[in-house]
Amino acid sequence: MRPRSLLDVDDFSASELVSVLDRAVAFRESLPPRDLLAGVPVLNLFFEASTRTATSFTLAEQRVGADIISFAPGASSLGKGETINDTAITLSGIGVRLIVVRHNESGFARRLADCFDGHVVNAGDGTHAHPTQALLDLMTLRQEFGRFEGLRVAITGDILHSRVARSNIVGMRALGIDVTLVGPPTLLPPGFAGDGVRIERDFDAILPHVDAVMMLRIQRERIDVGLLPSLEDYTRRYQLNRARLRALRSDAVILHPGPYNRGVELTDEVLDDPRSRYVAQVRNGVFVRMAVLDALVNGAPVAA
Ligand code: NCD
Repeated sequence: MRPRSLLDVDDFSASELVSVLDRAVAFRESLPPRDLLAGVPVLNLFFEASTRTATSFTLAEQRVGADIISFAPGASSLGKGETINDTAITLSGIGVRLIVVRHNESGFARRLADCFDGHVVNAGDGTHAHPTQALLDLMTLRQEFGRFEGLRVAITGDILHSRVARSNIVGMRALGIDVTLVGPPTLLPPGFAGDGVRIERDFDAILPHVDAVMMLRIQRERIDVGLLPSLEDYTRRYQLNRARLRALRSDAVILHPGPYNRGVELTDEVLDDPRSRYVAQVRNGVFVRMAVLDALVNGAPVAA
């Protein structure tokens, strides 16, 4: 059997998710000894641009004492025509035990996990999944509300191209959160609706009723021309701005995975608003990633 990987949120059961989050909270309260992953060679393989995810993983790896190898995959033999299989055999032969991978192809993390004799953590694959982002969002929600069951969360924006939205839908549903997806039909096709997941085209109608709103940027690098005929129309309907902040409950919170596009999905006021939890999100990201590394390499903690 292959070592355990985290390719999407549902690689953990609901009780495992909760115990990984509990562990992350414990790490936030007091850092663990630095030997949790002592001597474990971890490779960071980011084929796609990343600021917060890459730095957050690196800091998490340092905090648990892993041996970190970071290299620019542009320089890898994959670019010279080597197959992913041969690269994976080489990396495990060298002694790499865990790979954190980001790639613009949906399913790349799974392809790597299928041939790598070690753990793989998906740090974002195309439009498919970004499980550690969803975990840090869940951690931030629980920090705020002390529970998941029955919370109402709106995810607004370019859902179609968002791996963050997909992984959050999986995690939120597993933990009993009520999800409303908000966006125009071109960026949010009807097929996204499902059990506990509904679609709302009218952002103003839903805003006063949610505990949290997660704003997503438009993924320009993945978008087909024509899916967004008018940016002006989009911002008029879906931008979180001063007027819409007034409609949001005083005890609601605003999440954003970053990077922001100021003036598109949000205005400057949003980031200054006391309900904005962006800093808590990125801070929690380090602890969640420490807990994920620990769970995969040392065995998932048993649910309390
Ligand atoms: C996201 C990503 O790369 O999927 N950012 C992140 O990891 N925090 C979201 C995005 O690119 O919009």
